[in-house]
Amino acid sequence: MAILKALKARQVLDSRGRPTVEVDAISDCGAVGRAIVPSGASTGKHEALELRDAHSPVYDGLGVRQAVDNISAIIAPEVAGMALDDQATLDSAMLWLDGTPNKSRLGANAILGVSLAVAHAAAAVRKEELYVHLNRLLIERAGMDDVDLAPRLPLPMVNMISGGLHAGGCLDIQDVLFVPIAAHTYSEALEQTVRVYRALGGILVARGYEAALVGDEGGYGPRLEYNDLAFELLVEAIRAIGLEPGRDAGIAVDAAASRFHDARSGRYLLRRGGGQSLDSDEMVELLAGWVDRFPIVSIEDGLAEDDWEGWIALTERLGKRVQLLGDDLFVTQTARIEQGVVDRAANAVLIKLNQVGTLTETFDALLFAQRHAMRCVVSARSGETEDATIADLAVASNAGQIKIGAVARSERLA
Ligand code: PGA
Ligand code: ZN
Repeated sequence: MAILKALKARQVLDSRGRPTVEVDAISDCGAVGRAIVPSGASTGKHEALELRDAHSPVYDGLGVRQAVDNISAIIAPEVAGMALDDQATLDSAMLWLDGTPNKSRLGANAILGVSLAVAHAAAAVRKEELYVHLNRLLIERAGMDDVDLAPRLPLPMVNMISGGLHAGGCLDIQDVLFVPIAAHTYSEALEQTVRVYRALGGILVARGYEAALVGDEGGYGPRLEYNDLAFELLVEAIRAIGLEPGRDAGIAVDAAASRFHDARSGRYLLRRGGGQSLDSDEMVELLAGWVDRFPIVSIEDGLAEDDWEGWIALTERLGKRVQLLGDDLFVTQTARIEQGVVDRAANAVLIKLNQVGTLTETFDALLFAQRHAMRCVVSARSGETEDATIADLAVASNAGQIKIGAVARSERLA
C-alpha cells in the first residue's frame, strides 16, 4: 500500500492571471500527483473560504502565499505517512486540522489542492486513469449500491454568450449555453458545439457586435440591448448549422441572480432592456416567459442564493418542464442540498469542488443528490487552469452533465 511521503505546494496563475495553489503529492515509491485549484468570480456567499493574502500589496492582495505556507507548515507534517488510497481519512484529518465551519483557518484552496493531488498520486501509483480511481472511491463512500455509479461520459453544457461578472456586465444574466441534447456520442456533441460557437461568432459580426471580445470563460461578450436577445441569437446559430432548436438542441442559462439581487429590498434589479425592478414572483414570471418562448432546458441560479421561497415557487412553476439548477444556492454542500430536497427547491445540483473544499465532501454532495433524484452537473469555475480533474469526476460519478465554459481557450478545452 502506497504512502504519502511529501507535499510540495507553490503559487501559480490561473486563466485570469490570478494566483492560485498548485500541489504535488509524492508517494513513497516516487509517483507524483499534481493538482491546481480553480477559483470563482461570482462566488456564492456560503462557499468555503478561499484564502488570499489580502493584507499584502503583492498581486494586489490576491496572492495565495499563506495558503501555500499552510500546506507546507501545517498540513504536510500531519498527513505525511498516511495511506494514499485512504482519501476519506486524509480529508477528515484536514477538516480536523482546520477546525472551522468554512475552512477559513487553512483555506479551502490549500485543503482542496492537497485533497486532489493525493487522489492523482494514488491513481498514478495504481497506473490507472484518474476517473477509475475516483469511481472506486465513490463506490466505497456510497457503501450501498443504491446509486448508479457506472462511469459515463457526460452531456456537455457549453457557454456561448457571457454576461454578468464574467463579461463586464454586458448582460444581466451571466451565461447562455448550448446543450447538444440529441447528439448520439460525445464527439458528435462536441462537434455540434464547436460549429454553433463558430456560427454564432459569424452572426454577431454580421450584426455589428464585438464578437472577438470574449468573457472569462471564452464565451462571446457582446453588449446586447436586452437579455432575451442572447437566446434569439443562439437559436439563430443553432438553425444556421442545420439543427432544430428544441428537438436537436437546447439552451441553458445561468442567470447568477444573486449578483443582481438587492438583499435589502429583496428585489431583482435588471439593467438591460431599459431596467426592471422585480420581486421574486415577477422574476419567476420572467423566467417562465423565457421557457415559453425559447428552447430552454436548464435554468441555473434563476433566483438568489437565500431566496428559498422564490426557489420553491419556481420549482412548483417550472420543475416538471426544465432543470432548475442550484449553484450559489447549494454551494456543493450536503446540508444545503438537503434543505433543497426537503423544501422542493430546485431539482438539480451544480457540483464545484472548491465550493466545499475536499474530494470526500464533494462525493457526499454528489451521492446525496443522486440518492434524492436531484440531477448533477459537474462544473468548472470562471478561473480555471490546465487541471482537468472535473472531467474525470464527471465520468466517475455518472453525473451525466458537465459545464466547462466555452469551446475556446485551453483551460476550457483541457
Ligand atoms: P464562477 O462562475 O466560477 O465565477 O462562480 C461559474 C458559475 O457561476 O457557474
Ligand atoms: Zn453559476
